[in-house]
Amino acid sequence: MARLTINGTTRDIDVDPDTPLLWALREQAGLTGTKYGCGIAQCGSCTVHVDGVATRSCSMPVSAFTPEQQIVTIEGLSPDGSHPVQRAWLALDVPQCGYCQAGMIMAAAALIAQNPKPSDADIDAEMTNICRCGTYNRVRAAIKLAASGETPASNG
Ligand code: FES
Ligand code: FES
Repeated sequence: MARLTINGTTRDIDVDPDTPLLWALREQAGLTGTKYGCGIAQCGSCTVHVDGVATRSCSMPVSAFTPEQQIVTIEGLSPDGSHPVQRAWLALDVPQCGYCQAGMIMAAAALIAQNPKPSDADIDAEMTNICRCGTYNRVRAAIKLAASGETPASNG
């Protein structure tokens, strides 16, 4: 059993202590926005926030977390998809197949929260997520748009 606080709600989850957080999120909590890519902390598709820090959930057992730690998934980033990073992603049509994009958005949101005006070098250093569709240029442009504070209110 693990007691985790996910998207603001503390819940008991019936899993072995060594279960990776990713699988507890997807299979027990039903939060399937967080994706499995590599399972070895390399690709970033499983990125969530833990106390605001981008964290690769595939490689962290649930036993590593306390109920006091705030775990946020893509479903909890904003109530209605209105986070500036999400709005920038919409405005620039960043995703292609989309598989990596929840992790990209979570990594980008953590980056901007910690560094509101990231340089290209900052983005290169922090955005180590892998995208098989090669959306890297649009990811960078969307991070800059989000950081500008000028993201449109909606996509329509
Ligand atoms: S699935 Fe976690 S980093 Fe690839
Ligand atoms: S959008 Fe397809 S893997 Fe990134």
